[in-house]
Amino acid sequence: MGKQSQWKSSTGFILASAGSAIGLGAMWKFPYMAGIYGGGAFLAMFLIFTIFVGLPLLIMEFTVGKMGRTYTTQIYSKLTGKKWLNIIGWNGNLAVFILFGFYSVIGGWIVIYIAYVLGQIAQLNSTMHLQDIRFEAIITNPWLTVIGQSVFILLTMIIVMLGVEKGLEKASKVMMPLLFIFLIIIVTKSLTLDGAINGLKFLLQPRVEDISGEGILFALGQSFFTLSLGTTGMITYASYASKEMTIKSSAIAIVLMNILVSVLAGLAIFPALNTFGYQPQEGPGLLFKVLPLVFSQMHMGSLFYLIFLVLFLFAALTSSISLLELNVSNFTKNDNSKRRKVALIASVLVFIISVPATLSFGILKDFKFGAGTIFDNMDFVVSNILMPLGALGTTLVVGQLLNKNALQQSFGKDRFKLFSLWYYLIKFVMPVVIVLVFILQLFN
Ligand code: TRP
Repeated sequence: MGKQSQWKSSTGFILASAGSAIGLGAMWKFPYMAGIYGGGAFLAMFLIFTIFVGLPLLIMEFTVGKMGRTYTTQIYSKLTGKKWLNIIGWNGNLAVFILFGFYSVIGGWIVIYIAYVLGQIAQLNSTMHLQDIRFEAIITNPWLTVIGQSVFILLTMIIVMLGVEKGLEKASKVMMPLLFIFLIIIVTKSLTLDGAINGLKFLLQPRVEDISGEGILFALGQSFFTLSLGTTGMITYASYASKEMTIKSSAIAIVLMNILVSVLAGLAIFPALNTFGYQPQEGPGLLFKVLPLVFSQMHMGSLFYLIFLVLFLFAALTSSISLLELNVSNFTKNDNSKRRKVALIASVLVFIISVPATLSFGILKDFKFGAGTIFDNMDFVVSNILMPLGALGTTLVVGQLLNKNALQQSFGKDRFKLFSLWYYLIKFVMPVVIVLVFILQLFN
């Protein structure tokens, strides 16, 4: 985006930040996590965390961006006069760098699926069907997956290099609602399958016995992940926003959209499990295994699945672009002449760390430590360590160092009746919650 250029309207701002926040987190990660950690119990914890922890923190990040108006490795010192606090921005930068590394693995899977379905449609080969897509064979193939993720990283890099994000935002006005419509179509189909009610119950009925310490931690991690908290991504978006941008309503809109997409993704997948003989605990492959089968039950299923995959890729790209953009704005300090060079270097580095992440599903599958495979560890470090740390740092800056009146004024015309409640939450409650979760993590 170059110099601190501005969004023209509040809707423009909401669309852009929603495009960045809504991506693989809601559609791919939520169902897979919910499947492992007890369905309804996970959804309940995720909702509680998203509304009571995520929303106040998102409002906080928007406030910081709106007040600071610069790139994120500069914004903390600009607001507080303390240079060392920029470390919070660098923490976010590191987080999005690693995040892009494993995000591209899943982005790559989407690319491969698109190629597969396109091939199937173009060949008009009646013996190839959606049910023949062999997920395991694809993700364990080192060359195929590395090529897939390279394409994903390249697409992201080219868009950032050309600086055509604005065009993409225009496109997202059509693509996002379309994706939404497609999700509803899949949900409708899934709900008519045999035994759908079991899946529905699994997702919507919280069972107390399914709540585990680990589940609580991952539900909180999921809230952070989908709302991009602690990575400074949302701070950046708000730093571009015009004075008219409405902090509170924008944050509420983004939280609601994220919840909606997460729940729809769950409703698309779980009711179909019974018919196709899958268990909820399939892990990261859940969406990729189940959705082709659901589409295979539809008239012109391949074509619809292809369109869905393209929309899904689009949603992933609007997120990966802002992941790369964060690195670019921090290392160019918004100097556009360095843009291409920095985008190239960052992409090559991301590619280097993304290869072991991809291979964690194939030849490095049994190489496990800490949270699991290399991929699992990258996700864990980002979602459960760097993101909460970044958010903790920001709560301390906002609660302890920034002026309360200045904070209140940043809300502008968007009247915020609960301002005092929010302020005390950020000042006293949130830091304690985040620290407690860290301590809990140590014992897990
Ligand atoms: N919220 C994004 C998703 O759900 C992932 C994400 C986290 C992100 N932090 C970010 C995206 C920063 C862009 C910028 O897919």
